[in-house]
Amino acid sequence: MATKSSDTKKTTSKTAKSATTKKTSTAKTTKKVTEKNQPVAVKVEGKKKILFVASESTPFIATGGLAEVIGSLSKALAATGNYDVRVIIPLYSDIKREYREKFNYIGNFYVHLAWRNQYCGIFSYEQDGVIFYFIDNEFYFKRPGCYGYYDDGERFAFFSRSVLEVMPFINFYPDVMHCHDWQAALAAIYLKTNYCFRPEYQFIRALFTIHNIEYQGQYSLDLLCDLFDIYGSYQHLVEYNSAINLMKGAIECCERFSTVSPRYAEEIKDAYYAHGLDRIVRNNAFKLRGILNGIDVDGYNCATDSHLYANFTPDDFSNKALCKKGLQRLLGLPQKPDTPIISMVSRLVSHKGLDLVTNIIEELLQDDVQVVILGTGDAHFEGFFRNLANRYPEKLSANIVFNSDLSRKIYSGSDIFLMPSKSEPCGLSQMIACRYGTVPIVRETGGLYDSIKPLENGYTFTNYNAHDMLYVIREAVSAYKNKEEWAKLMYRAATTDFSWGHSAKEYEALYLDMLK
Ligand code: GLC
Repeated sequence: MATKSSDTKKTTSKTAKSATTKKTSTAKTTKKVTEKNQPVAVKVEGKKKILFVASESTPFIATGGLAEVIGSLSKALAATGNYDVRVIIPLYSDIKREYREKFNYIGNFYVHLAWRNQYCGIFSYEQDGVIFYFIDNEFYFKRPGCYGYYDDGERFAFFSRSVLEVMPFINFYPDVMHCHDWQAALAAIYLKTNYCFRPEYQFIRALFTIHNIEYQGQYSLDLLCDLFDIYGSYQHLVEYNSAINLMKGAIECCERFSTVSPRYAEEIKDAYYAHGLDRIVRNNAFKLRGILNGIDVDGYNCATDSHLYANFTPDDFSNKALCKKGLQRLLGLPQKPDTPIISMVSRLVSHKGLDLVTNIIEELLQDDVQVVILGTGDAHFEGFFRNLANRYPEKLSANIVFNSDLSRKIYSGSDIFLMPSKSEPCGLSQMIACRYGTVPIVRETGGLYDSIKPLENGYTFTNYNAHDMLYVIREAVSAYKNKEEWAKLMYRAATTDFSWGHSAKEYEALYLDMLK
């Protein structure tokens, strides 16, 4: 929530001012700088212009799957040669220094939002044929992490407004403005309620993609004009259950909306999955699409990944045994080559199915298995697994950290990957596990249902029930003993096509459909 005290006003304008002074730019020089530093996008006639608006993107900053999708889908679309793809995200202070140092400063201007008038600096960087823009305002983004602040609504309102304001500045009016999750919802809302009446913006079409319907951006209605700068006549677009709901607003305002798997697109019409938005989803179902995410298959490649103890291929898994041995040594587990390692790389929160796991894990640990957990999350789950690791040091390793190097060692060194989510819009980990020949066991929901087919490339169970899950785990553990059959399953998992190829084409079709 925003405060309207004069104190805030002062701090804000001071920060903005100092940032401006530091860069000693005036509007005039800015233009020149723009021309000089602006990366040259190869403009081929007929290329459609796509602008991704998101709160994070690999390789610059990532807190979850959203960032991976923004980084890898934009790259895949650019690689088709049919699109001029650009991505815009905030310039968080946590963006890795190695990148920040290479960013080009384009210039700055001021963004008006209700009574606020805020500094907005623009940086850019080109990678893999995609131009990334970074919105700079130290007052909003010079903080650790990306989210979780009392004024997140204000921060992302500023970001979204800047996205529209930056277009004339960089001379880029996209054909499709592709907004992701609630943090970018206001860009679609502002387009509809304000900017589309201006000639340069009138042909921009907004696509809104829901990566997780749980996080909707809900605020008090009092903030409608004062913070979000939305006129009362548009209140009905963003109002839901007597509050502002930005995700609802974007669904109403966009040309089309989509989610990250076909199954999830169906599920969110249902109250069980929709976190209160099912009515809105159903009412707008005529413009909803579900497109399964892909992953960056070059980045997750068991043949080349330098984080692994040894590289291997789907045609020759023999070195996977070295990965397993290395992992057991690293985690202090007995080096037993024939004991299956069941792993989880996950946020330790309830909807990832942790309730099911805690329910049956002691039973499971009676079997000849080893269990490896990696992730952080709710304190009670973290404590539970730490405690269990102390009691079963020979059988369970609990790594309560986020560590990307270790995650790759776990994906490659384990045999079975467990992902029993209660709901899962898409999920990328099950696909990554497959890429490393680790057979996933998933609950049939969302993208897990769409990507893992029983016995083709993994194991599945239907009901959110701990013993249904245990039954399937035991089935997999028993199948693991049949080396020949298991090798075939590993092969099928590792060779399942999780590249963006197919899904990028579906996005292309959707864009073209929107532009008709
Ligand atoms: C969110 C979802 C996850 C999805 C990712 C990328 O993190 O929870 O299921 O894979 O976004 O779309």
